[in-house]
Amino acid sequence: MTISLANMSGGHFTLTAPAKINLFLHVTGRRDDGYHLLQSVVVFADAGDKVSFTRHDSLFIDIEGYFASHVGDLRENLVYRAAQALAQEYKHEATGKLVLEKNLPVASGMGGGSSDAATTLKGLVKLWGLPDERDRLYKLAATLGADVPACLVRRPVWMEGAGEKMMRMPDMPDMHLVLVTPPVATPTPEVFKRFAKRAAGRYSAPIQFIGRRKTMHEWIADLKLYRNDLTDAAIEVSPDIRTALAAIAATPNCHIARLSGSGATCFGIYESAAAAQAAVNKLRIEHPRWWVKAAGLFKE
Ligand code: C5P
Repeated sequence: MTISLANMSGGHFTLTAPAKINLFLHVTGRRDDGYHLLQSVVVFADAGDKVSFTRHDSLFIDIEGYFASHVGDLRENLVYRAAQALAQEYKHEATGKLVLEKNLPVASGMGGGSSDAATTLKGLVKLWGLPDERDRLYKLAATLGADVPACLVRRPVWMEGAGEKMMRMPDMPDMHLVLVTPPVATPTPEVFKRFAKRAAGRYSAPIQFIGRRKTMHEWIADLKLYRNDLTDAAIEVSPDIRTALAAIAATPNCHIARLSGSGATCFGIYESAAAAQAAVNKLRIEHPRWWVKAAGLFKE
């Protein structure tokens, strides 16, 4: 048996950047700077990108994986930006060989880029031996994108404001999700722009959400009361989202079919793993060009 010393010394390790799913998302207002005020329950799925970290004299980033070719300019990439921002904040030299395995469709509403950024911060704190300063890291995360702080938590969170107010939720029963992404780019700024036009100042009333449900059944019953307010705007940008939602809803034993974030990813919730897998099989046959995956909740 070979034991890698690098692994044991923290000189080489891999972290998962789990997919972010908004179980519901209400828009309750708009700030003066144009950002929308949201209320959402965010969970993380056990499907995601991966980032591996190895000690190296300079900063070296490589991208591989199924969706690697969909990643644009590396300097715009959130892995690169997160590494630079952390180096600047801690006056630390930007070093390390980082390999991003891009398994999630890009710009798809699963927070792939945000989760990659949060995972990069987490990994580099370890690789560089930085102090564990939660507040400082969360503040830095917020400068990289509205969803990045939640992606640092990687557990179910109640999210408010423009994404900066978060509260850890009590642990949830494992969920049987089916994630579906039609291959259409659905840029977040465009969806919010259309939403603002459609809403014309009318927003959802804020809700008081208390995460006290225990069973999957109770969760599903509760989540049915809520929705994703960005759905119509996202369909306007990418009409395939309507087709995806209808296809998910038509799978047997599907309790909820909903859009995540600003799309194009939609998800279904099922009470059993078998029902979720049957839905995956059906959707893959009906829509071979869609990205379709069964997932549970992410666990560290
Ligand atoms: O911060 P992030 O890159 O995720 O946001 C992209 C764009 O989406 C913002 O520039 C803004 O136009 C819109 N947005 C918003 N309200 C939010 C989050 C994003 O209007 N809470």
